[in-house]
Amino acid sequence: MRLIIAANWKMHKTAAATAAFCQALRRDEALFDGVDVLICPPFTSLPAAAAGLQGSAIKIGAQDMHWEKQGAFTGEIATSMLLEYGVSSVIIGHSERRHLMGETDQQVSLKVRAALASGLQPLLCLGETETEREQGKTVAVIERQLSYVFESLAAEDLSNLVVAYEPVWAIGTGKAASVDDAEDAAALIYRLAADRFGAESAKGLRVQYGGSVRVDNIGSYMALPSISGALVGGASLEAVSFSALIQAARKAILH
Ligand code: 13P
Repeated sequence: MRLIIAANWKMHKTAAATAAFCQALRRDEALFDGVDVLICPPFTSLPAAAAGLQGSAIKIGAQDMHWEKQGAFTGEIATSMLLEYGVSSVIIGHSERRHLMGETDQQVSLKVRAALASGLQPLLCLGETETEREQGKTVAVIERQLSYVFESLAAEDLSNLVVAYEPVWAIGTGKAASVDDAEDAAALIYRLAADRFGAESAKGLRVQYGGSVRVDNIGSYMALPSISGALVGGASLEAVSFSALIQAARKAILH
């Protein structure tokens, strides 16, 4: 399955910094062959990303969206506004939105449905907190988060859906999940998709790992049978290190 490596910049990079990053990353583009590479800048930097990546195979993602097409939703952004800047994917339900902004499973589900309906590829984030893991609730949390989203999906949607398993305790902590834990979670996601939509449709789904991904650990995740990509925060902020990370991921699946 084709790898998808996405940079989640969170609240980093002005338009000027985005333009400089795009210029630098493009220099290495020939080394990314066979990998879907995606950068997800803040909304205000989307035009700079669109201009900076014109004619490039590197794609652009947004970090969030609203499920309504338009309306009185101060501070929110609609899919049509993202599409206008060549955005092809959108991160939905990131743990920082769930835990810092109070985003609910229902809202995440509405966003995934609306993204797919507008032709955007959702990168659906899910994962347990440290307390939930300690209490042995990891499986139950993933089941709950996924079941809300699955309720509004059809089997054919899976081929345009990416699920990012991001255990909350691994995000920005330097404490990455073990390969066994990452594989268990990804395999569970496939199993739940297969139970609901059938094994054949579940094969269309791609699962990423996210949480303290670095150049020295990305290869071990990419080599796992159920993982075909990564969602990267801190290590995606410098073009040189993000490029090295993509190349390391590619190398891991070539042999
Ligand atoms: P870090 O790679 O900085 O741990 O962040 C992961 C993340 O939240 C990506 O969405």
